[in-house]
Amino acid sequence: PPHPIFIGPNVTQCFASFSDDYQPVNCCSGIPSYTEEELLATAKDFEFPVFNESQIRVRRPVHKITDTVFMEKYRKATEIMKNLPITNPHCFARQANIHCSYCTGAFKEENYDDMLLRIHRSRLFFPFHRAYLYFYERIVGKIMGDDSFAIPYWNWDVPEGMYMPDMFMNGSLFHHKRETTHFPPRVTQNDFYKSDEFLGPEKQVEANLALMYVQMVSGAKTPELFMGCPLKAGHDGWCMGLGTIEMSPHNSLHSWTGITSLPELEDMGAFYSAARDPLFYAHHSNIDRLWHVWRELNDVKEEWSDPEWFNSFFYFYDENQQLIRVRVSDMLDETKLGYRYVPSETPWLDYKP
Ligand code: C2O
Repeated sequence: PPHPIFIGPNVTQCFASFSDDYQPVNCCSGIPSYTEEELLATAKDFEFPVFNESQIRVRRPVHKITDTVFMEKYRKATEIMKNLPITNPHCFARQANIHCSYCTGAFKEENYDDMLLRIHRSRLFFPFHRAYLYFYERIVGKIMGDDSFAIPYWNWDVPEGMYMPDMFMNGSLFHHKRETTHFPPRVTQNDFYKSDEFLGPEKQVEANLALMYVQMVSGAKTPELFMGCPLKAGHDGWCMGLGTIEMSPHNSLHSWTGITSLPELEDMGAFYSAARDPLFYAHHSNIDRLWHVWRELNDVKEEWSDPEWFNSFFYFYDENQQLIRVRVSDMLDETKLGYRYVPSETPWLDYKP
């Protein structure tokens, strides 16, 4: 058969799947199975939003936000989402399960019945999560009744942001399955592995900055090194060439946030459960920002232009509960997506070893 030139989920059948530790999981409430006919009748292709300058959603560093009205609105919207019935695609648990389904292989790859789709550990990582956050942000904004809502970013690459953010330490933005010994004022361990020793606040900050230099600069000189390997359709969904930032601080701060004594460092530490913690979205807001920063540092506009990359796609629900088919090429220019980042300092640029 001809080799398809895209990678994407076959959502006509969602399967019970497995966690990294081979625990059975079922995240099929995220995007339930659709028949071919239903898909044709309901799914729409992504369209770029129409907006003017004043409507751009501005993602800010969490630790600098002092606006309590914003915090309360964000908490209220999250609470509403947590209380929605599972029949509503905006239900918080369903949103979390969408992430779970794309991570644990709940869908086969379109046109490849023997291949499960997984969106981590390859160049699909950045565009998938950009799209996931894009829709999540629109949904939260809709529920808040405030279209300007922008997901704040957990700015763990500057010393002032190297803590679990206060905003996420109470109300509906708090999450009970987090490592309590890592609560503020404990400095983040950006290269955390389960057995790692905490270096003490000052040395840990230095180590975190030095790590950033390697992951963003010296170790990330090409798109493949930074973004991950160019996964091919029908090839094993783990091409095991994850990019520098995905490896750490991304993976490592997931692990650091989850409960150390749980088998898979739940909830943040495991793919199947990570998005159950509202902090997930602020973590990924920073990841997405760093993609932008890397492009600026390297003067790159598009890392690849092959059809397998451009045409790879995912499904999500938008703020109107509409099922949307979004392609990687839709996610490559965030200025067309109606959001931007308040720039942050990059102290790690001075941490050349
Ligand atoms: Cu899809 Cu931070 O993981």
